Amino acid sequence: MFKDKKVVFSGVQPSGSLTIGNYLGAIKNFNAFSEEYQCLYCVVNEHAITVRQNPADLRKRTYETLALYMACGLDPEKNTLFVQSHVAAHAELGWILDCYTMFGELSRMTQFKDKSAKNADNINAGLFTYPTLMAADILLYQTELVPVGVDQKQHLELARDIAERFNGIYGETFVVPEGYIPPVTAKIMSLAEPTKKMSKSDENENAVVRILDPRDAIIRKFKRAVTDSGNEIRRGEGKDGIENLMSIYSAFTGKTLDEIESEFDGVGYGDFKLAVGEACADALAPVQAEFDRLMKDKAYLETVMKNGADMANYMAARTMSKVRRKIGFVEIK
Ligand code: TRP
Repeated sequence: MFKDKKVVFSGVQPSGSLTIGNYLGAIKNFNAFSEEYQCLYCVVNEHAITVRQNPADLRKRTYETLALYMACGLDPEKNTLFVQSHVAAHAELGWILDCYTMFGELSRMTQFKDKSAKNADNINAGLFTYPTLMAADILLYQTELVPVGVDQKQHLELARDIAERFNGIYGETFVVPEGYIPPVTAKIMSLAEPTKKMSKSDENENAVVRILDPRDAIIRKFKRAVTDSGNEIRRGEGKDGIENLMSIYSAFTGKTLDEIESEFDGVGYGDFKLAVGEACADALAPVQAEFDRLMKDKAYLETVMKNGADMANYMAARTMSKVRRKIGFVEIK
């Protein structure tokens, strides 16, 4: 069906609290891929249960995450949007790949070390083998390109190693995927510590602007953004805070940094921060309105999930039959 198109796959945790960094650096640009690639975006609810979840919240956030992706412009007619647990092959391939992943490799994953430090009372086996399930997500669809944040680079390297190892034993089975780290996300920094990346899990809410934050919260957060003791809106040594606000303003308005420097020549920090907050809130308003509309239409969201699952299952089945045959699992018709 889509034989000639290369595949893009990315997974997103059902957290619903994505930041403007996720929006500007990733989601907003994902549509551009759909011309050239067949794109699958998966709400990874099986990954989510590696830490304890409230069932009602998990269910709600699964709808929200799908709705948020669509509200940000991802068209379900042009992209396959689906939920991980609707495609049983993720768990099946995850198990198989567990048997081709070394204990030592998983022990070296920095995210496992971080998460086990944070969840000391629940260091379950799923938390440990999480990267293998992620490898399964990717390899199941013969993915060429994986847009991810820098924090996922190590997991992606492992997915490549697992694919190469499997291919080395059984012959070409999986495409070895490449990571794609969107250039802008790297540049959206925390509003509280502008030398640190804006992170959706930052404990300081003032440091992070979320796609679904209400207008007044957005304006307030920008007002409180950390800057420097100077008074000029320009790039330069020690001006990380101002530079960050300039890149955010640039990303939302399309103006270049040079244009911004002249636009705000002689303007104080307070007025500039307000302008950035307003530009951000204005740009997010239509996304938020579309999100609210979609969340009222569960039946439609379920249709999108169902169609996505059908396509994903179809593609996954082809890889799975190849994998089972190569391993030596008996097939019955
Ligand atoms: N681990 C990723 C994260 O926390 C989410 C994820 C799961 C993913 N499976 C994936 C990302 C496959 C890319 C491809 O952000």
